[in-house]
Amino acid sequence: MLVSVIGTGYLGATHAACLAACGHDVVGVDSDPGRIEPLEHGRAPFHEPHLDELLDRGVRAGHLRFSTDVHDAAGAEVHFLCVGTPQRTGSRAADISAVHAAAAALAPLLTRPCLVVGKSTVPVGTARELATRLRRDAPAGEDVHVAWNPEFLREGHAVEDSLRPDRLVFGVEADEDDQVLRDVYVEMINGGVPVVRTDLATAELAKVSANVMLAARISLVNLLAEVCEAAAADIGDLTTVLGLDERIGPHFLSPGVGYGGGCLPKDTRAFVARAEELGVAGPAALLRDVDAINMRQRARTIDWTVALLDGRVQGRRIAVLGAAFKADSDDVRDSPALDVAATLQARGADVVVHDPKAAANAARAKPGLRIADGVEAACQGAEVVLVLTDWEEFRGIDPVSLLDVVARPQVLDGRLTLDPHKWRAAGWDFHALGRGAR
Ligand code: UGA
Repeated sequence: MLVSVIGTGYLGATHAACLAACGHDVVGVDSDPGRIEPLEHGRAPFHEPHLDELLDRGVRAGHLRFSTDVHDAAGAEVHFLCVGTPQRTGSRAADISAVHAAAAALAPLLTRPCLVVGKSTVPVGTARELATRLRRDAPAGEDVHVAWNPEFLREGHAVEDSLRPDRLVFGVEADEDDQVLRDVYVEMINGGVPVVRTDLATAELAKVSANVMLAARISLVNLLAEVCEAAAADIGDLTTVLGLDERIGPHFLSPGVGYGGGCLPKDTRAFVARAEELGVAGPAALLRDVDAINMRQRARTIDWTVALLDGRVQGRRIAVLGAAFKADSDDVRDSPALDVAATLQARGADVVVHDPKAAANAARAKPGLRIADGVEAACQGAEVVLVLTDWEEFRGIDPVSLLDVVARPQVLDGRLTLDPHKWRAAGWDFHALGRGAR
């Protein structure tokens, strides 16, 4: 099948590479030449494990092309829309202008029957609006069909999540559109991946609802963590107990500095905004609290750090380990780690940050921040060390040798990454969000 993928961020680039790996001929289109240039050479413009191999294979085999010109998408039987839908400036709602711009650019090129498939996370109701516009503006008119096929991939696991998803969701208006999507994903379906067929609106909601449930779960566990601190209990042991309950399960129970990234924060807010538009404002207040509890984790981390420095941060050396919003990613969008580091620096602290992969993006996002290229360099002379991203590398830090580097052996673990017994035994004043009293 000839397939186009419009928008080559994390979602689009991975989707394009995976479709090519499934045997389709794929053209990826993005208006940003900075993204297209490395992709044309089989390289991802961001850190994502295993994606380079897949891109390289697809490009070399001639099944995968990239272009900045949307005309190169003309002629495809299926067009996937994978553009970003960030939070709108000055509002909680999602900015879906890129989705409409992509559809507007595509419309005049749709001269033959085709299926336009949305993958971007959008407010419910967008797909129907898009279908009306495309049928009005495309030369093929009623022969342009629209479907919604949300993507549930996680950064850092994008390739495995795309090639072996938990489920495929096909939001369609006709049997023939369902069949086209079954043909696109035939390999995965034959491999046992379940398909749920829905209407357009349910498919749109499927994505944002999953993210909202994950966000709520994290804020709930962070609420439990704060109660643990107040009650001198241990959130690590508590989540082990909870995770063994089959109805609860062990995933997404890690407390700490909270969720970040390009998805959970903005999707939770966009869901509230859309629910309010739909007249469901009262119950949606629950998600305002989820967001508030999440932001509270950053404030609590900062307050705790200030307390460890006896109430004064001006000129004090603080090491921040982690800048990415989570491990195995170089993404710093809405990163709790970077936010905490930048806020402490803005208050006058002498902050040095280290992240194994996100240093360049952190420097771009916060040009004034000092970045070190190793754990020891970041901790040199520090009076407190904050661990704010759950990198495996930080788990393995030797607390004994780090003692020689810091000015004061105080550590605050914001991700339950470190072993408290090991650090305390080495002589550190050890603190962790959710672990006992200060
Ligand atoms: C999330 C969803 O997990 C994906 O299913 C979805 O496709 C994606 O958003 C999206 O909308 O595109 P992602 O943003 O890559 O994926 O990251 P997650 O692994 O969900 O983590 C989100 C944040 O929650 C991170 O900051 C992470 O550190 C934090 N987190 C995660 C916790 O604080 N505790 C946990 O137990 C799990």
